[in-house]
Amino acid sequence: MLTGAPRGTKDLMPEESGSWRYIEGIMKRVAAAYGYGELRTPVFEHTELFQRGIGDTTDVVEKEMYTFEDRGKRSLTLRPENTASAVRAYVEHKVYGQGGTARYYYIGPMFRYDRPQAGRYREFHQFGCEVLGSGGPEVDAELILLALQILREAGLKELTLKLNSVGCPKCRPILRQKLKDFYAPKLELLCEDCRNRYERNPLRLLDCKTCAPHREGAPNILDCLCPECRRHFDGVQELLRAAAVDFVLDPTLVRGLDYYTKTAFEIQYPPLGAQSAVAGGGRYDGLVEEIGGPATLGSGFAMGIERLYLAMENQGLLPQVRPVYQVYAAAQGDQFGPAFKTVTKLRAAHIKTGLAEAGRSMKAQLKAANKAGARLVLIFGEEEAQRGQVVLKDMVTGSQREIAVSTVTNTLQSILQTEVEQDEQC
Ligand code: HAM
Repeated sequence: MLTGAPRGTKDLMPEESGSWRYIEGIMKRVAAAYGYGELRTPVFEHTELFQRGIGDTTDVVEKEMYTFEDRGKRSLTLRPENTASAVRAYVEHKVYGQGGTARYYYIGPMFRYDRPQAGRYREFHQFGCEVLGSGGPEVDAELILLALQILREAGLKELTLKLNSVGCPKCRPILRQKLKDFYAPKLELLCEDCRNRYERNPLRLLDCKTCAPHREGAPNILDCLCPECRRHFDGVQELLRAAAVDFVLDPTLVRGLDYYTKTAFEIQYPPLGAQSAVAGGGRYDGLVEEIGGPATLGSGFAMGIERLYLAMENQGLLPQVRPVYQVYAAAQGDQFGPAFKTVTKLRAAHIKTGLAEAGRSMKAQLKAANKAGARLVLIFGEEEAQRGQVVLKDMVTGSQREIAVSTVTNTLQSILQTEVEQDEQC
C-alpha cells in the first residue's frame, strides 16, 4: 500500500455507515420536528471568514486551521466549524431582509489540526443548528432541548448539561479587568498558552485544565453580568426547569470560540473520558455584524457525530447491521440467463437481490445464499423452468414452494412489505 489514510481521519466502511445513517436519521427527524431547514455550505471558505468570525486569538484560528493558497493565490481554509459559514450564507442571501427567524441545521465534515486521540479527529463530523434573527431565552432553551432530544432518542442516559453566561460587550470588559487583576500576581505560574492569552483573551484562562489549580478564588462570571444578561440567563434557566431538564451551572465554561455572548452550554457524556463533550454551543449576538450583516441576534450548537457514535457503541445502542440482500437467487445449468432477468426486475422494484456466480455447483450457490443472510432464496431449476415455475425457499422457516416466474416480483413484494417499510426508516 502506498500510504494509509492521513492521521486523524477515518474511513467509514459499509458496516459503520449504516449506523451513521441511523444517527443522522434521528438528527434530521428531530430537527424537522422543530422546524429547521437543512443548510449546505462549502467545505472551504475564505480564510478571513474564520479569522473574523471565530476570532484571531482562539486555538482554532491560531493553531488548528487547514489553510492553503489556491491557484488564484486566494487564501482558503477547510471549515473548522460551520457557524461562521452559516452566518455568511445568511448575510450573503440577505435572509435578514425577509423578516422573521431563520432556523438552519447542517451535517458535514469539519477540519481541525488538533492532536488526534479517542474522540478527537482532524476530520470529524458535526450536526449543528443555528437560529438567526431571534434573541429571547426561549431560543437558547429550544436549542438545548433539541440537542437533548437527539441524544435521548439515540438512547443515551448519563448526560450532563453545563450552563453558563459569558456576558455581552457591556459587562465583559468589567469581567476581563477583574480576571486580569486576579491573575496578574500569578502570571509566572501559568502555562505558556495562558500567559499569551492573559492580555488578549483572559476569559480563556478560566477553562485551562493545566492552570486549574490557580483558579481558586477567581472572579465568578455570573457575579459580573449586567442586568440584561442576568435577566436573559434567568429566563433560560426558568424554561429549562419548566421542561424538567437538569443542569449544572459552570462559571468556568467559556468555550473555545470568540463569538459567544450570554448563554454558553455544553452537553457531556462522562463515560467518554477526556473528550466527553458531545455537543456545545451558545448565543452569538455580534457575529452577523462582524461578518458584514446588519445587527442580528443568533444562537446555536453543534454535536460531534463521531463522539455520539462512540457513546452509542459503548452502550450497545447501535442498530444491528442488516444483511445486504433480502433475496438471493441460485440457478441450475442453463437457467442463469432467466435468473439474471428476474433478478434485474426485482432490483428495479427496489428489492435488494443478489445472484450467485454463474457456473458454480448448486451446493456452492446455496452456501453463498446462506452466507449473504438473505431471508428468501429463489432456486431456478431446469425442471421447474419447463413449467414456468421457480422454487422459493424461506430461510427462516425452512419451508419451500414453487411459484410462477411471472409472479415473482409481486409475491416477494408482499412477503417483504413489512421488512421494506422498516428498512426505509433507517
Ligand atoms: P465546538 O465546541 O468547537 O463548537 O464543537 C462542537 C462539538 O463538535 C464538540 O462538542 C464535539 O462533540 C465535536 N468536536 C469538536 N472538535 C472535534 C474533534 N477534533 N474531533 C471530534 N469531534 C469534535 C462549535 O464548533 C460551534 N460551531 C458550535 C456552535 C454552533 N455554537 C453556536 N452555534
